[in-house]
Amino acid sequence: MTDPQIMLAERVQQALARAFGAEHADADPLIRPSQFADFQANVAMSLAKRLRRAPREVAEAIRAELSDFPGTVEVSGPGFLNITLSDSWVESEATRMLADRRLGVGTITPSQTVVIDYSAPNAAKEMHVGHLRTTIVGDSLARLHEHLGNTVVRQNHLGDWGTPFGMLIEHLLDIGEETSVAQLEAGQGTEFYQAARAKFDSDDAFRQRARVRVTTLQSGDPETLRLWHVFMDATIRYFNKVYELLGVTLTDADLAGESMYNPMLQQTCDDLEASGAATLSEGALCVFPPGFTGSDDKPLPLIIRKSDGGYGYATTDMAAIRYRVHDLKADRILYVVGNEQALHFRMVFAAARLAGWLPETVSAEHVQIGMMLGKDGRRFKTRSGESVKLMDLLQEAVERARGAIADRGYDEATTREIAHAVGMGAVKYADLSVSHDSEYVLDFDRMIAFTGNTGPYMQYATARIRSIFRKAGVDPAEAAGPIALGAPAERALGLYVLGFGELVSQVTAESEPHRLCAFLYQTASLFSTFYDECPVTKEGVDPETRKHRLALCSLVLRVLETGLDLLGVPVPERM
Ligand code: ARG
Repeated sequence: MTDPQIMLAERVQQALARAFGAEHADADPLIRPSQFADFQANVAMSLAKRLRRAPREVAEAIRAELSDFPGTVEVSGPGFLNITLSDSWVESEATRMLADRRLGVGTITPSQTVVIDYSAPNAAKEMHVGHLRTTIVGDSLARLHEHLGNTVVRQNHLGDWGTPFGMLIEHLLDIGEETSVAQLEAGQGTEFYQAARAKFDSDDAFRQRARVRVTTLQSGDPETLRLWHVFMDATIRYFNKVYELLGVTLTDADLAGESMYNPMLQQTCDDLEASGAATLSEGALCVFPPGFTGSDDKPLPLIIRKSDGGYGYATTDMAAIRYRVHDLKADRILYVVGNEQALHFRMVFAAARLAGWLPETVSAEHVQIGMMLGKDGRRFKTRSGESVKLMDLLQEAVERARGAIADRGYDEATTREIAHAVGMGAVKYADLSVSHDSEYVLDFDRMIAFTGNTGPYMQYATARIRSIFRKAGVDPAEAAGPIALGAPAERALGLYVLGFGELVSQVTAESEPHRLCAFLYQTASLFSTFYDECPVTKEGVDPETRKHRLALCSLVLRVLETGLDLLGVPVPERM
C-alpha cells in the first residue's frame, strides 16, 4: 500500500517537472492535511516567488498536469491546491494494507547496526525514577529499530565501578554477605549506600579500609573481585525484577557496565596521547575538542585521566565509543540519557571524532531525556524529600489500576493480570507520549485515566474492538475485507491509518516515540467517532456492510496493537 502523502508528493513533483522543467522537480510540495479537503499542497506560493509569476497561475499550471490523478484537485484562495483522494483509491489502499502482514511498514535497506545505550542505573544507589524514562524510551527505540529490520545491540551501561565500591565492599563485609544480598535484592541499595557512607564520614578506621579496598579492587585481587560480584549480582537481580515488571526487553546479555571497560582504560589514554588528540594539562590528561569553551573563554577540557592518575566517567565513555564503533560495528549509536549530560556527550562525540574513532559514516546521538517532575513542578521526590523508588512507584501504579477496574467483576487472577497491564501501560505510555527531551510531570490521576491520550485509553480502545469481534463471533484475523468506505467517519478512519508505515519510519529515524503515541491516539479517536456513527454488529446492518466494517475494525485493531507493541505497552485482551 501507499502512504497518501508520499504518493501525493511524488505526483505533485512530477507535475512540477512537466510544468516548469526538471530543475523544479525537487521543490518541497508542502503537503499538509487540510480541513477543506484531504490534503493541501502549498508549493505554488513558494514556487511563484522563484518563478516571478502569480501564485494562482502557478497553481493552475500544476493542476493541469495532475490530470491522471486518483481524486480531485482544486485551486483555491491565493493559490492553494486542495486535494481530495477518490474513495476507490482509499478503499483499495486500505484493503491492500489489510492484506499486508507488515501493515505498510517497510524495512530499512541496507539494514543498519544500531547500538542503543539505555537504562544504565547506578549500582551504588537505588534505581530511581530518573532511570525509568531512559529505560522505557530506550526500549521503545530498540523495538522500533528491530521492527524495521535493523540489528539492535542493547547496551546497559551500568554504573558498576569506581571509588564508592571500596566502602560498599567494606560495609558488605561488616554486615555479612547474606544480609547484604537480602537487602540489595529487596531494592534497598540506597539504604545500603547510606549506611556505608555514614561510616565513611564518621569512622577513620572504616575510611582507611575503604581506601585500601579501592586499590585492591582496582589491582584485580581475586577475593575482592568475588565480593564485588556478590554485591553486583544481587543488585542486578533487583534490576531484573524491575525490568520484568516493566516488560522491557533488556536481558543479562545486554549488560555492559562501566567495569567492562576497565581493562581498556589505560590503552584508551595511551592511544589518545600518542595520536596527539589528548594533551597533559596541569598534570591531567585532557582532550580539548574544538569549539568548546568555558565561561572564561578558555578551551574546555574533557578529562581523560585525572592528575592523581584516576580514570573517570569520560574515560569510560571514550573506551565505550571506540568499542561500539570498532567491535560492535555500529552504524548508529543512540545514548538514551538524561539531558543534564548534554555537554558531556557533545564533548565525548567531538573528542572521538578528533581521535578518528568516530568516522563520519557513524552517527552518535544523545537522545536527551527530560527530568521527571512532581505535581509541584519540582524534581520528583517523596514527601520527606528523598528520591522515589522505582519499585514503589510501579507498585502504586498497579494498585491504582486495580482500583480503577475493581467494579468490573473479574475474578482475582484476571483482575491481577489486567491491573498489571494497565498499571505498567499507564506509566510507560505517560513517559512515551511526551517528547523525550521535555520535562514531564508525573501525575498518577492523569496517567491512569481512561480518557485522553493515556495508556489505559489506548488499551481500552483495543479491548473494545476485540469485544466487537467477540460479539460478532468472528476472529479478527479472518476479517478479510474488502474494505468499503461509505460513511464520512469510515472514510476518515481508513484514510488516516494509511499513514502508519511512513510514520513508523519517521519515528524511528528521528527517535520520537511520542509521535507514534499521537498517531495511535488520533486513530483511536477516529475509531470512536466511526463506532458511534457506523453500527457494525447491530441488528439491521446488512451483511455486506457488516463485513466491510469488520474488515476496517480488524485493520485498526492491528494498527493499534502493532503500534502499542512498538512502544512496549502491553495490551490486555479485555478490560
Ligand atoms: N549511569 C549513568 C547515570 O545514571 C548513565 C550512563 C549513560 N551511558 C553512558 N554511556 N554514559 O547517570
